[in-house]
Amino acid sequence: MAGPTGVALWFTRLNMRQSELMANPYPFYEQWLQDHPRWEVDDGQWMLFRYEDVRRVLMEPAFAKGEPWTETPPPAYAHLPTLTPSMLMQNPPDHTRLRGLVSQAFQPRHLERLRPFVHDLARELVQNIRRDGGGDIVSQFAFPLPALVIAELLGVPRADHSQFRQWSQHIARLLDPSQTPEARDKAIQARWELLDYFHQLIQKKTAKPESDLLSELIQVESAGDRLSPGELLSMALLLLVAGHETTTNLLSMGTLTLIEHPEIPLPVANWHTAVEELLRYTSPVQLDARQTVAPVAFDDLLIPEGSWVTVVLGAANRDPDVFAEPNQLDLARQPNPHMAFGRGIHYCLGASLARMEAEIAFPILWETPWALTGAPLWNENIVLRGLTALPATPR
Ligand code: HEM
Repeated sequence: MAGPTGVALWFTRLNMRQSELMANPYPFYEQWLQDHPRWEVDDGQWMLFRYEDVRRVLMEPAFAKGEPWTETPPPAYAHLPTLTPSMLMQNPPDHTRLRGLVSQAFQPRHLERLRPFVHDLARELVQNIRRDGGGDIVSQFAFPLPALVIAELLGVPRADHSQFRQWSQHIARLLDPSQTPEARDKAIQARWELLDYFHQLIQKKTAKPESDLLSELIQVESAGDRLSPGELLSMALLLLVAGHETTTNLLSMGTLTLIEHPEIPLPVANWHTAVEELLRYTSPVQLDARQTVAPVAFDDLLIPEGSWVTVVLGAANRDPDVFAEPNQLDLARQPNPHMAFGRGIHYCLGASLARMEAEIAFPILWETPWALTGAPLWNENIVLRGLTALPATPR
């Protein structure tokens, strides 16, 4: 979700190996919060760490998304409409229009409809791991759960869920900069195959609407305005990309966090506050970025127009000015005004869904405690920090 920022420069500037930062960025954040909370990484490239600064960037219109781009399908997929920029990439008034149309379709009733599905799926996935005496929490639980929930939300027929899961698995690799060129090519191919699948599904649901989000998105209308075919396609893809990896990372990092705190008594008394604390503590989206469309002052520092500003949500969520004992996990922490879902006009559209998934899935997984059976593996994606493997067994 970060734009072309100075992030790649971090590692060189810090003289730090990426893997070192990925395994634990928090000591670095703590030091930077203290010593360089407003850091000019390079000419016109800023990084802001403090809660209040991050909040301002996400809330104020002087900080905007960069130039959005459209995407013409390659010749083999020339029958698909040109993909328009998703709302995540857009500024008002285009963002306002898209978000308005989509929010109309994203109704609580779709979430309520999903509740039993999430419950049954979480139970089945956990039972499989327990039956085998342990397994990989990422590939057997944290990854498939949100992928299949989005499939169900959009109205992908159950018979296609396993194919959908495979496409998601390949596409997720696009978000990891450490991938081999072969894996990238496979991911790009999977992305077009999925878009083609969505295109056909949209045609089917246009002819015969059902009670799912995709049918609703097709029909949604406001003052004669509707989503165009290219907008529908980008929206379906955005929901998968924005809602899958992030939730996977919350479930897997949240589980690792609980394993690392065996002193916490089970069962957890209140999973609602516990999930909020796991969101704060793990920050599945670590960074976000905006470009200034006017000069902006932070006390006596003036950030010129046209600068890239990266905000470090992971650091803001551990700012001691806002959170007492920020490095301590407190599952009953209240209030907990974390910014794991962002702030302002781009505030996560799927926050209620992600919360619902986590509030159903964690209690099912944590009916009994877990122990590691091997070293957790971190991805190398500093924006969507997460685990690629978490070998564990019930204790
Ligand atoms: C733990 C899980 C999740 C986290 C931590 C998360 C985090 C975020 C953050 C930080 C943003 C703001 C990005 C920005 O300001 O540039 C965002 C936006 C968004 N999220 Fe999520 N998200 C999660 C789950 C989901 C789910 C499940 C969905 C939907 C299925 C979703 C859909 C979206 C969409 C559509 C946007 C763009 C909103 C806009 O541009 O107005 N997210 N998310």
